[in-house]
Amino acid sequence: MGTIKKAVIPAAGLGTRFLPATKAIPKEMIPIIDTPMIQHIAEEAVQSGIEQIVIVTARHKESIENHFDYNYELDDTLEKKGKSDLLKISQDVAKMCEVISIRQKNPLGLGHAVLTAAPVIGNEPFAVLLGDDLIDARVPCTRQLMDIYEQERQSVIGVMEVPLEETSKYGIVGGARKNSKLTQVEVMVEKPEPKDAPSQLATPGRYILDPVIFDILRRTPAGKGGEIQLTDALQILAKEKGLLAFEYEGDRYDTGDRLGFIDATLAFALKRPELKSSVLEIMNKHLREQS
Ligand code: UTP
Repeated sequence: MGTIKKAVIPAAGLGTRFLPATKAIPKEMIPIIDTPMIQHIAEEAVQSGIEQIVIVTARHKESIENHFDYNYELDDTLEKKGKSDLLKISQDVAKMCEVISIRQKNPLGLGHAVLTAAPVIGNEPFAVLLGDDLIDARVPCTRQLMDIYEQERQSVIGVMEVPLEETSKYGIVGGARKNSKLTQVEVMVEKPEPKDAPSQLATPGRYILDPVIFDILRRTPAGKGGEIQLTDALQILAKEKGLLAFEYEGDRYDTGDRLGFIDATLAFALKRPELKSSVLEIMNKHLREQS
């Protein structure tokens, strides 16, 4: 297994938790401040050393492809008006890396979406980043996982510790601790009640996977909701080839959820020097009005 150069971003889901916004706009194009969620994810991949991003898309999601392409009319207008800073913002997205899109023709689940990328990935290990989870970290989360993969030569899944009462919101892994940050995965349980949870290690969407996952996905029957679940395939991968869980360092935001989205928006706004003091004023105004 060589080093990791390719990443898959599954973006073919229906985004029902964000209706009505997602009726005509892909959830992945909803911005945190001014940057679509999928651009934040692509930036994490590129900053981790990924050279080629495979986006799994669906009908009515052409705007995702357009976002990573040039927009000649816009760029021409900005150039003629001498707005070079805005021109750079527009063009940098198209230049950031090679983007290949592939259609998942039916939304048959996350596992099926990953399998859809198989012809482009081939027989190489690859990263998977889910757009619902933004992870703000000094070393990008995917880079942290790639480093573990390069040391251990085994598939790796990013995990974070969650309070016991919240295990029913996540996929939870169980297994034998190898050190304070690394666990050899033995089981994966989808959304267990606290009493059934094998640990408090939850799996937001960051993975480095051996390409054998494609063979496993091909023989994984549809599970919960009639969908091919990545979790079911990962469970088999853990048994047949080994799977590690690494507790990455960073702050995670669940932007697929409305409150998580608001949390991310505020956190990212407060990190922008040009916005910080005005945003604090707005927050204070709302706090005063509520008290
Ligand atoms: P989610 O379960 O969050 O599904 O999928 P969703 O459709 O995007 O959102 P909700 O739950 O209806 O609001 C997790 C990730 O897997 C992708 C989604 O785009 C999302 O990035 N996915 C899911 C696919 O690409 N294809 C699928 O068939 C299902």
